[in-house]
Amino acid sequence: MAPIIHIQDLRKQYDPPRGVLAVQDVDLDIEEGEIFSFLGPNGAGKTTTISMISGLLTPTSGDAVIGGYSITQSPMAVKELIGVVPQEIALYPTLTGRQNLRFFGQLYGLGGAELDRRVDEVLEFIDLTEHANVKVEKYSGGMKRRVNIGVGLLHNPKIVYMDEPTVGVDPQSRRRILDTVKQLNQERGMTVLYTTHYMEEAQELSDRVGIIDHGEMIAVGTVGQLISQIGEEDRLVLRVDAINDAFLDGLRKIEGVTDVSGADGEVCVLAKRGRKAMPAAIHVAGETGVLIESVRIEEPDLEAVFLYLTGRALRE
Ligand SMILES: Nc1ncnc2c1ncn2[C@@H]1O[C@H](COP(=O)(O)OP(=O)(O)OP(=O)(O)O)[C@@H](O)[C@H]1O
Ligand SMILES: [Mg+2]
Repeated sequence: MAPIIHIQDLRKQYDPPRGVLAVQDVDLDIEEGEIFSFLGPNGAGKTTTISMISGLLTPTSGDAVIGGYSITQSPMAVKELIGVVPQEIALYPTLTGRQNLRFFGQLYGLGGAELDRRVDEVLEFIDLTEHANVKVEKYSGGMKRRVNIGVGLLHNPKIVYMDEPTVGVDPQSRRRILDTVKQLNQERGMTVLYTTHYMEEAQELSDRVGIIDHGEMIAVGTVGQLISQIGEEDRLVLRVDAINDAFLDGLRKIEGVTDVSGADGEVCVLAKRGRKAMPAAIHVAGETGVLIESVRIEEPDLEAVFLYLTGRALRE
C-alpha cells in the first residue's frame, strides 16, 4: 500500500534569497495507522514542515502527497483529510468550550444535528463535557490545550497532526493528552504525526521517530533502531567511598564491559548489559575493599541518540 504521507524533497526558505532555510529537502514516508513523531529542539523546522504538509504554507520546492492528494496541487483536498492541532492555541477566550467547538465545526462545514452530535462526542472525548459551558478564559492551560485538540478532531479526520500539544500543561493534563493520542490511534486507526522536543513523549508514543535538527531529518526509525545506532550500551554509575586501581581493573575484566572511568567518588561503567554486570561489579568491590554507596543504571535513550548525532543536548 502507498504510504498515507509521502514527503519528497520538501524545502522551505523563508524570505529568499537570504532568509532562514527552515526545512532542507526532507524525504519521508509515513504509513497508515502509524504514530510518527518529529523530535527536535526549538527552531528545528517541525512547525514549518507541519504547515507545509497541511497545505497552509507553500514550499520553496518539493512536494508531499497526503492520502493521495498533493499539497501543491490540491491543498483544499488535503485540508479536508487532516486534522491540525496547532502549536499556538487558537481559541476565542470569551466563548465557552462548546461555543468554540461549534464555531470551528461550522468552519469545517458541519451544521445541524451532525454539528451537535460531533461537538458532544468531542467534548466527551477530551473529557470537558462538565466544563463545556464555561468561558475558555477561565480554563487552565491544560483544558485549553484539550479544546485545541478537540477542534482538530471535529470533522473526524483520518490523519491528525499535533504540534507540541503538551507544552505548558500540568502533568495530569499531559498524561491525558498522551492517552488521547494512543486512543485515537488504537481505537479509530488514526494516523498521528506528533511533534515534540520531549524525548520521553516520542519514546512512549511513537511507532517511529524522525529526529529533526536545523531543518534536516537526520535519522528516522523505531526507538530501538535509533538507539542501536549508538551501540546499545548501558551506563552503570557506582557511587563509592573511594576509588582504587585494583577496583577499576577488576571492573574492566567483567564480561560485556567496554569502558570504565572513575572520578570524584563516582565510577562509570559502560556495559552491553548493565543489569547483568551489576552483581560482578559488586563482587569486585568486595574483593578490592571498596564500599558501594549507590548504583544507578542509565539505559540509552533518544536524548543520547540526539547527543551522538549532533554533539548537542536536545534541551540546552
Ligand atoms: N514566518 C517565519 N519567517 C521567517 N522565519 C521563520 C518563520 N517561521 C519560522 N521561522 C524560522 O524557521 C526556523 C524553523 O522554525 P520552526 O518554527 O519550523 O521550528 P520548530 O521546530 O517548530 O521550533 P519550536 O520547537 O520552537 O516550535 C527557525 O529558525 C525559525 O526562526
Ligand atoms: Mg514549532
